[in-house]
Amino acid sequence: MKDAVIGKMTYTLDASQTDSQFLSYPNPVDLREIQGLVVRGYGNLPAACFGFFTINSAAKARKALSKLQARLTYAEERPALEAINLAWTYQGLIKIGVSKEVADEFSNEFRSGMNTEHKRRILGDEQQNAPEHWHWGGPDTPSIDFLLLCYAKDQAALEQLYQSLKEALASSAVEEILCLDTQLLPEAKEHFGFRDGIAQPFIKEFDRQGRNFTPVPLGEILLGYPNGYDRYTQRPLIPAELDFSNQLPPDPEGSPTRDLGKNGTYLVFRQMSQDVPAFWRYLKEQAGSEEKAIRLASKMVGRWPSGTPMVMSPEQDDPSVTDKDAFAYHDTDQQGFKCPLGAHIRRTHPRDSLQPEPGSEKSVAFSNRHRLLRRGRPYGDPFHPTMDPMEYMKLLDQDQPSTERGLHFICINANIGRQFEFVQHTWANNPNFNGLYQDPDPIIGSRSSYGLPQNHFTQQQSPVRSQIREMPEFVRIKGGGYFFLPSRSAQAFILSAGVNT
Ligand code: HEM
Repeated sequence: MKDAVIGKMTYTLDASQTDSQFLSYPNPVDLREIQGLVVRGYGNLPAACFGFFTINSAAKARKALSKLQARLTYAEERPALEAINLAWTYQGLIKIGVSKEVADEFSNEFRSGMNTEHKRRILGDEQQNAPEHWHWGGPDTPSIDFLLLCYAKDQAALEQLYQSLKEALASSAVEEILCLDTQLLPEAKEHFGFRDGIAQPFIKEFDRQGRNFTPVPLGEILLGYPNGYDRYTQRPLIPAELDFSNQLPPDPEGSPTRDLGKNGTYLVFRQMSQDVPAFWRYLKEQAGSEEKAIRLASKMVGRWPSGTPMVMSPEQDDPSVTDKDAFAYHDTDQQGFKCPLGAHIRRTHPRDSLQPEPGSEKSVAFSNRHRLLRRGRPYGDPFHPTMDPMEYMKLLDQDQPSTERGLHFICINANIGRQFEFVQHTWANNPNFNGLYQDPDPIIGSRSSYGLPQNHFTQQQSPVRSQIREMPEFVRIKGGGYFFLPSRSAQAFILSAGVNT
């Protein structure tokens, strides 16, 4: 076990490489093996698009993608101009030539995908959100084989980059199914008007500033390393004789197999459309004034529009709070009087607040086994360019063109079932989360469970709680899928697999 934690692959920086560009070395992980998106969100590359492709001829696709491999972005360097990452669906792996024997070593969740009968119950994708209505990734839309995530310093550079990729692939019987645009919003906000992307799991091995927070084990985010149980998450281990070119690392647990998963991980993609006017109209009606609507919305999120957490400033927004992630719930807000028990951030990351020993390290460790590294980007024009909810509410009575906008939610996790699906199903969709009754996550929770409505939002207060009911949904699922984001070696293996079989 110890051998595995401290990988053998370290390398030395040459003198021209500065610390700000590179992570610290020697490092237990070989960053040249890991796709860049795992380590950074490419915040310096504001333009991004996500292209979904299908393969018509494996042989030709292999050739073109092998050339593309040299252009993919790995984690050792912060790209200044552009970045490209590539992720596969299960169908894609089979189509490019990975044998079923090998592909079936991947996790059940990845193999079954997001749109099965079982998954729609787990994820709450029912009625209007059912995969039949999706624009992509559904049972009746073209099957997706791989995803190219492209980033550039501006829109013109992005268009040029994406066009060049499409041209490189076009002659190789690879067809674009669709390309999703993105739009970074002012002040790093999401469309409802709240700052996003503040809280992320702290991975010591990826830290550039030598910070000292409680780390989340690397194996929660990457395959091939010990996870939160000090075990190895299930990953594709394959017989050594199938690794013809000898390019995969050995199983760190010492079995005679090769680890196709190591330094790779799973990427979850959900296109979530946000109905901004409906959100603020409902809140204004319920709260009675614009100020109160902002307070109510902030209670639902668990943070004020500036990102300041409710537990730090329960009465009004305080944009001057600098460290917006330095808080827990148990000591400061056990009852949920500051940040309601059912708020979006309290459900999706309960920190130290869960039983059986709230406030303890055990409780934090429990929560840390369900963390998500979020890498999503918004899409569509803002409802108002200031992103200020006050301005939003002034527009509610005016006729507005209906605009499609939302979040391309992307998260990275080593175990889709225990991380993304658990968070969505057991925390966000659960009407009884933390002792509540009929309360889903107000932002992303399903509004019905087994045919029964669950549409309350409760604010714990003394002497009596307050509650709103018949809360409509403000977010709708437009598409989604599960992808494998391979390491550099695994990518090479995948692209050579069909050649040898
Ligand atoms: C349109 C959909 C969504 C919106 C508008 C939204 C909005 C937000 C906002 C405003 C925050 C606070 C900023 C921060 O803490 O970084 C946040 C945090 C978070 N969200 Fe979402 N979110 C959405 C979808 C999701 C989904 C689908 C999941 C997972 C199933 C999720 C999981 C999280 C997590 C884990 C956090 C961080 C909580 C923490 O560590 O304290 N979100 N979200």
